[in-house]
Amino acid sequence: MSRIVHVTGARPNFPKAAPVLAALRGRAEQVLVHTGQHYDDRLSRVFFDELDLPEPDLNLGAGSGSHAQQTAAVMIGLEQVFTERRPDLVVVYGDINSTLAAALVAAKLQIPVAHVEAGLRSFDLSMPEEVNRRVTDQLSDLLLVTSADAVGHLAREGVPAGRIHFVGNPMIDTLLRHLDRFDPAAARAEFGLPESYLVATLHRPANVDEPEAAGELVSVLHKAAERMPLVIPLHPRGRAGLQKAGLDSSSGVRLLDSLPYTGFLGLVRGAAAVLTDSGGVQEETSVLGVPCLTMRPNTERPVTITHGTNRLVGVDGVLTALDEVLAEPARPRPAPPEQRPPLWDGAAGPRIAQVILDWLAAR
Ligand code: UD1
Repeated sequence: MSRIVHVTGARPNFPKAAPVLAALRGRAEQVLVHTGQHYDDRLSRVFFDELDLPEPDLNLGAGSGSHAQQTAAVMIGLEQVFTERRPDLVVVYGDINSTLAAALVAAKLQIPVAHVEAGLRSFDLSMPEEVNRRVTDQLSDLLLVTSADAVGHLAREGVPAGRIHFVGNPMIDTLLRHLDRFDPAAARAEFGLPESYLVATLHRPANVDEPEAAGELVSVLHKAAERMPLVIPLHPRGRAGLQKAGLDSSSGVRLLDSLPYTGFLGLVRGAAAVLTDSGGVQEETSVLGVPCLTMRPNTERPVTITHGTNRLVGVDGVLTALDEVLAEPARPRPAPPEQRPPLWDGAAGPRIAQVILDWLAAR
């Protein structure tokens, strides 16, 4: 059997990796590495408890730091793992620093790399994720893409067509698999919410790190909360900056800690609208049929606009867009299968597994 090392490190990786590991079970020797980029239980442990993810075989404990510190810590840990285990393939997920670190180390050791969620582009190099995506894709042998636009980006960057495989979105496999557990009534009861409420999630450096940007954002959030109660599960990154900028649990705003997977998606499923700067939330709301207002100047996930519920509104445009969205007739929830982006059908994990196994067999 071929030996495959999967590298995960932060919250958004776990629901992407779970269906791939499941589909390869018994068909390859698998090693699951957690780099330790995220280490709080709320950003890591809860996903292993809730999703069908095996315990990581190794946790590198890389932790937080500057980009160079964090990327280097992951690289040093992975170099030892890859040298000792000599995998036939390293599988990396998404666009976080651990993704880039793993691709760099594997490439230098001449170990092939498969990138799940390849080819997304915001064309905004001020986002660390955009740097991570571009470099990871250049170093990958197998580019597993979630949407058709990604195929075009990769082709234009000179990636040979034979390496690119449009397989769909494994994070949506996880979402559809657990759909019955996303319970808006339970979320309303838990957080004492009325029938109509809003959810916001914010953690992008561009929104939460700079005091001026954080101040603008907080003022918009408090105004949004005048329409209906606004629940904000806070990522640890944004907490200090946003609170310093005046965000508090007053006048309709409810601040929460980061939530577990099913609790968060239960809350989102029942929301009148979601305000976010997350990539994954744009995708999840699209499939749940919940209006999403993205508070960024760009998105690497345009399929959530063309085939989903997402609107790119920036911070300035949120309140106008929110009033429009709240006045529209409700959409079916979740979105009917024919209204989802192509191949967001719950079977991306098995397709990814097949591409990987065929590729390994042909080597
Ligand atoms: C990372 C990813 C981002 C992803 C996000 C999802 C990169 C460059 N960014 O951003 O793409 O959308 O994860 O959550 O890889 N912290 C904790 N506890 C933790 C982890 C982090 O308190 O378990 C705090 C620390 O103060 C840390 C900060 O959050 O310095 C940032 O963490 P880091 O992993 O560097 O980036 P994220 O902002 O989480």
